[in-house]
Amino acid sequence: MRACARGLCERKDQGRRIVSVLIGRDPEHRLIENLLNDARNGASAALVIRGEAGIGKTAVLEQVGRESGMTTLRTTGVESEHDLPFAGLEQLFRPVHNLVEHLPHPQAAALRSAFGLSSNRVEDRLLVGLATLSLLAEAADDAPLLCLVDDLQWLDGPSAQALLFAARRLGAEGVVMLFAVRDDPADWLETPGVPQLTLAPLAESAARKVLTTRRGAALSQAAQQQLLQEAMGNPLALLELPVPDAANAPATGIEAAFRARVLRLPDETRRARSTSRLRRSSRRSSPAGRSGHSRKLTSSSRIFRPRATPTSSSSGPFSGS
Ligand SMILES: Nc1ncnc2c1ncn2[C@@H]1O[C@H](COP(=O)(O)OP(=O)(O)O)[C@@H](O)[C@H]1O
Ligand SMILES: [Mg+2]
Repeated sequence: MRACARGLCERKDQGRRIVSVLIGRDPEHRLIENLLNDARNGASAALVIRGEAGIGKTAVLEQVGRESGMTTLRTTGVESEHDLPFAGLEQLFRPVHNLVEHLPHPQAAALRSAFGLSSNRVEDRLLVGLATLSLLAEAADDAPLLCLVDDLQWLDGPSAQALLFAARRLGAEGVVMLFAVRDDPADWLETPGVPQLTLAPLAESAARKVLTTRRGAALSQAAQQQLLQEAMGNPLALLELPVPDAANAPATGIEAAFRARVLRLPDETRRARSTSRLRRSSRRSSPAGRSGHSRKLTSSSRIFRPRATPTSSSSGPFSGS
């Protein structure tokens, strides 16, 4: 079984490509693809994907989740559950609760307590961190495992702490942990010891393709140009900014304010609002509001590897045999 988890029975997946429906994110997908292929050979990795609201973090995670072909555990930080200890971890591990019994007793007790499965209160964060690492290893016993943690900035603190603790100590479990976190100074979340990839704005050619493929070819050249300038390579803005009204071109700042408002919305809310509804409502307000401040578009997302590599065990506590 363990040999299988170490990649011997997954070789047919070697070199598996992520077929992306996203525009302009091939380098990012290649990078993640390599992590997944390494996991099929038994190696583990973690990556924090940073970026402003609307830049495509969730879209990248969803794409990888669809294409990996790997067993996948998921959790998403939700603002309203930010103060509920272990809500995020419980969501992640819900499909593998039954494996908790395979953990060393103190770790199992700590997790059961955290998940409200036992009346014994064990409040030991170190044990929960260790148990998180052990449970990931256990869940990856038969086949490589993918963990997707979206909106880390809104995950409850104890869950984020346990997951990052585990991420820093991954070794040879065959686990890939991908975190997405909003790169917002107001919500800045430190993730020391875990490599980071910052999603850059889409390059101009990719941004243009998003406009033409997702918003129809009916946009005039002038409207396209204005949207490209205002969106500054942000896919959400490209998709949701109102079509500029050429007849009333002077800037009023309304669209810029609208954009800022949309980008601040929680992701669930944004998804719930249909593009057409946004367009309708924006048509009622006066158009324009061209910010005019185009920044240089670049598609080169940055990867940052922390210098201080975390202590990593070459195998998880349950990696024997
Ligand atoms: N590279 C891309 N190509 C096409 N559409 C994209 C791309 N990146 C993101 N999108 C779309 O833009 C919107 C915002 O992306 P999302 O992943 O929710 O952003 P974030 O999670 O960073 O806030 C979504 O509708 C998503 O499908
Ligand atoms: Mg998101």
